[in-house]
Amino acid sequence: MSYPFQITSPEAYKSAYEKSIKDPEAFWSEIASSFFWRKRWDKVLNWDFKEPKIEWFKGGKLNITENCLDRHLGTLGNKPAIIWESNDPEEHHRVFTYRDLYNKVLQFANVLKNNGVKKGDRVCLYMGMIPELAIATLACARIGAVHSVIFGGFSAQSIADRLQDAQAGFIVTCDGAFRGNKEIALKTVIDDALVQCKFVKRVIVLMRTRTPISMIKGRDVWWEDEIKKVETMGNPDCPAEEMDAEDSLFILYTSGSTGKPKGVVHTVGGYMVYTTYSFVNVFQYQIGDVHFCTADIGWITGHSYIVYGPLCAGATTLIFEGIPTWPDAGRLWDVVDKHKVNILYTAPTAIRSLMGFGNEPLIGKDLSSLKVLGSVGEPINEEAWHWFDEKIGKKKCPIVDTWWQTETGGIMISNMARITPSKPSYATLPLPGIQPILVDENSKEIEGNEVSGNLCIRFPWPGILRTTYGDHERYRTNYFAPYDNLYFTGDGCYRDAEGNYRITGRVDDVLNVSGHRIGTAEVENAINMHTGVIESAVVGYPHDIKGQGIYAYVIFQNTHDDENLTRLDIIQTVSRVIGAIAKPDKVQFVSGLPKTRSGKIMRRILRKIAEGETENLGDTSTLLDPAIVDEIKMGRI
Ligand code: PRX
Repeated sequence: MSYPFQITSPEAYKSAYEKSIKDPEAFWSEIASSFFWRKRWDKVLNWDFKEPKIEWFKGGKLNITENCLDRHLGTLGNKPAIIWESNDPEEHHRVFTYRDLYNKVLQFANVLKNNGVKKGDRVCLYMGMIPELAIATLACARIGAVHSVIFGGFSAQSIADRLQDAQAGFIVTCDGAFRGNKEIALKTVIDDALVQCKFVKRVIVLMRTRTPISMIKGRDVWWEDEIKKVETMGNPDCPAEEMDAEDSLFILYTSGSTGKPKGVVHTVGGYMVYTTYSFVNVFQYQIGDVHFCTADIGWITGHSYIVYGPLCAGATTLIFEGIPTWPDAGRLWDVVDKHKVNILYTAPTAIRSLMGFGNEPLIGKDLSSLKVLGSVGEPINEEAWHWFDEKIGKKKCPIVDTWWQTETGGIMISNMARITPSKPSYATLPLPGIQPILVDENSKEIEGNEVSGNLCIRFPWPGILRTTYGDHERYRTNYFAPYDNLYFTGDGCYRDAEGNYRITGRVDDVLNVSGHRIGTAEVENAINMHTGVIESAVVGYPHDIKGQGIYAYVIFQNTHDDENLTRLDIIQTVSRVIGAIAKPDKVQFVSGLPKTRSGKIMRRILRKIAEGETENLGDTSTLLDPAIVDEIKMGRI
C-alpha cells in the first residue's frame, strides 16, 4: 500500500503547504477521500472561532475501526499490526496480525455490548501497557462508545473526578500492572475511586499480575469470563456502529491553568484524517516499518501514534509494557534490536535519563534497523539532541522534533524525516494545513523573523479539539477568548531567520514535568488539603532530567513535628490526591508569600528564586511585605 497523500520531496512539501493555505477545504477533502467512508460528507468545514464551533466532514458516515482494521484485512491480514513487548524480558513477546487484532476487537466489542455499553456511553480505561488496552480502545470505537483512557499513574481521587466529570458508567481495568520492578494495584485504586462513584454499573477486570483483588458481586466481572461467554455465542461478528464524522471518539483529560483538569474531546472523522496524515508524513512511514512510540496510551501521544494513526495507516506498532531503565538502562536498545525497530519516537526526559548512564548500556546492541528518530512532549535541549543523533541514530537517522498538544490531536509543527531539514532544539516548520502565528500581549501579530511571542494558530485543522467535555464555555475562554479569532496554544515561541519555530515553554501556569502537563493550581489545591497547610504556591524550576521540577512554597502552622516528616506528609498528600507524577521535588516552608496589595501572589519572584536567581528579582516595591522576599531567599533549597 502506498499513501496517496505521502509527501516525497521538499518541493512537494512546499506545494502541499501552499495549497493547504489557499484552499484548505479542497486540500483536506482530497486527503480524506483516501479513507473509507460509508457516506461522503456534506460539507468539508464549518467553523467559527468566536462561538466557537468547528466541524469537519459533517454528514460523513464512518467508523474509525473500519479504517484501522477491516479495510486492511485483504492486503495486510497476515501482517503484524501490534508487536507487544512485556515488562519482563523473559516473557515471550506477542504479535497480533491485522486479522488477529480484528477478531480480538470484535470479540471485546461484543463483551462491551453484553455488559450494556451503548453508543455514546463513556467508558473509562485504566490499564497498563498491554495489547488489551489497545483492543479495548478500539472496541469502544467499534460500538460508538466514547473512551476515556486514564494514565495508570493517577490516584483514586483523580480517577473519581474524571469519572464524575464524564459520567462514565463503565470501567475496563486490570488487577494490576507491571512497571519495572513495581506492581501497581490498578483494581484497588479503582475500588477506592468507586467509593465516590456509585453510578458506575460495570467494571471489567483483565488478569495481568494476579495481585489479590476484591471482585464485587453484581458490579465486577472478569474479562476472561466475559470473552468465554461471547465465544459460546459463536458469532464473532460485530458490525461497526455507523458514526457521524463529528460524533465523539474520546475524551482525554489534561491539565490547564485552573485547578480542574479538562476533558478534551476529539471526534471521529477529523481526528482520523489528521493523525494518519501526520503519522505518514512526519515519520515518512513505509509499509513494513516497525514503529515504536514509547509513550503510554494514557496520553495523547499513545492515542495518536501508537493506536489510531499507525493502525489507520496499516503500520506495525510496537507496544512496550515496561520502562527504559529496567532491568537496566539498555532495555530500550534491547527492544529496538530484538524487534528491528525502524522508527523510535520518545521523549526528551527519557533521552536525558538514558544519556546519564553513559555508553555502557549501548554496548552490543544492534541499532542498525533505525531509520527515523522522534522527540515529543517538551523542548529538547541541544545536548540531548546530539546524544540521540550520535549514539542512537549514528548520525544517519533524521530526528523529528514534533510539537503538538492533547488539544491538537496530532503533530502540528515538525520537520518531516528526510524531506525537510532538522535543526537541534527547533520543531522547525508547520505541517500543511497549520498556520502558526506569534502574537504579543496586546493581541498584535508579531510579523517577520527572529522574533518571539505567544504561539497561536490561525485556522482550524481537522484534529483540533471540538469542546471540553460538559463545559463548552471553558473551551471558549481557554482557547479562543485570549486572542481574537485565533486558537491560543499556551506556549511561547521563537521564529528564526529562516522561519523555523522553536517552542520555548508554557506561558501559563502549567508545568511540563517529564513531558507531563501539570497545572500549578492543581498541585496547590492538593497541598492545601493537608492538615496544617495554610497556603501554598507552586512554580516550576529547571530540572536536569525532568525538564521542569515542581517547587512548592508552603505556609504551615507551627507544629511540634519534624520538618522533614511534614515535608514527606505533604508530598504523600499530593501523591494521594493527584498521583505520583505530581509530587513536588522541593518543599520550602515559608512564613508568608510575596503578594501585591491586592493579594495576588507574585509568582515571577517565586519562579526566579526557585531557579536560583536571587539578585535580579525585578520590581518588588509593589509588594505588601517586601521583607518576605529576603526570608524566602535565605530558606531556598
Ligand atoms: O508546551 C508544549 C509541550 O507540551 C505541551 C502539550 O502537552 P500535552 O498536551 O501533554 O501533549 C504532549 C504530547 C503531544 C505543549 O503545549 N510540547 C509538546 N511537544 C513539544 C513541546 N514543547 C517543545 N517541543 C516539543 N516538541
